[in-house]
Amino acid sequence: MPGVSLVGSGSACLTAQLTNDALSQRVDTSDDWIATRTGIRQRHIATPQDSLASLATEAARNALAMAEVSATEVDLIVLATSTPDDLFGTACQVQQALGATRAVAFDLTAACSGFVFALVTAAQYIRTGVFKNVVVIGADVLSRWTDWDDRTTCVLFGDGAGAVVLRAAERDRLLGFELCSDGSLNHCLNLAYQPESEVLVGDITVQKGTFAPITMNGREVYKFAVSRVPEVIEKALFRANLTNADIDWLVLHQANQRILDAVADRLGVPAERVVSNMARHGNTSAASIPIAIDEAVRAGKIKAGDVMATAGFGAGLTWGSAIVQWA
Ligand code: UT7
Repeated sequence: MPGVSLVGSGSACLTAQLTNDALSQRVDTSDDWIATRTGIRQRHIATPQDSLASLATEAARNALAMAEVSATEVDLIVLATSTPDDLFGTACQVQQALGATRAVAFDLTAACSGFVFALVTAAQYIRTGVFKNVVVIGADVLSRWTDWDDRTTCVLFGDGAGAVVLRAAERDRLLGFELCSDGSLNHCLNLAYQPESEVLVGDITVQKGTFAPITMNGREVYKFAVSRVPEVIEKALFRANLTNADIDWLVLHQANQRILDAVADRLGVPAERVVSNMARHGNTSAASIPIAIDEAVRAGKIKAGDVMATAGFGAGLTWGSAIVQWA
């Protein structure tokens, strides 16, 4: 069975920065409250010139350059996003922009768990021998769907895109994984369709409308994250035949520094082994893990052979962990 190797990472560079102080001009909040409760100091916001496709393409292009894989060698593109440019899917726009003419491309939606779910999904195509070179992208522009007058959510989110390149290899570096869903908690975090009825003709009524802005029960999601994330990482480690002591880097979905600290504490991972870019990016949903990986790789922190315990968690509710070794 072919193995899965992670051979490149990339992210998109967004220039517009929204600081906590700037946000305080819009809603009743403060830099002190946001930084103390979440660890966030600023987030990046997509400009009207950016699109989900353009950010995802930039991240993928950078990952392919690091991997030294050309676009025409790519067999599959999986785009994890909850904020597509087109509800029919955005991955094909990315395929076209990259010039990945041989690749099949599709979107995958699992909110803030999207990157981990996409990584594991993509890996199955490699393990079965179907594809050799796969690009996995996590990208979100949550600013489109944020209620900028709701201080309980708008301070948390930012926009971004990150990507990795997976390659078929002799040695399997996806060491273990575990994915979970619990729809009974679906109401805790939503970006829900907001229907408006319109009588079409006679007794036929159709549903039109858009999506309501993000709503979240922050306390419930917080409790869920600090209990379920350590558990799912330990299950994935067990499948990898590893223990907590084997974790070189803890790369969690960047939702809240307090969650990162609590999970690290529970797993006994020292603070210097926890990758965090919360302060600069906020919560970028499906993009947060690949951006964190890319920044840590380019900073020379994550090195060849290092074991990363990644974990995503969020709407669905969904959560999952993948234990991967950097090639
Ligand atoms: O990516 C998906 C996963 N999402 C998450 O993991 C998010 C998980 N949840 C959290 O990170 C935290 O629950 C939050 C950061 C969202 C909130 O922190 P908290 O410590 O749970 O605060 P809270 O909701 O208990 O609110 C505490 C107080 C409230 O005031 P009262 O009722 O105590 O008077 C809020 O009204 O803080 C108030 N508050 C704010 N004050 C200033 C809430 N938001 C703000 C704000 N600025 N932005």
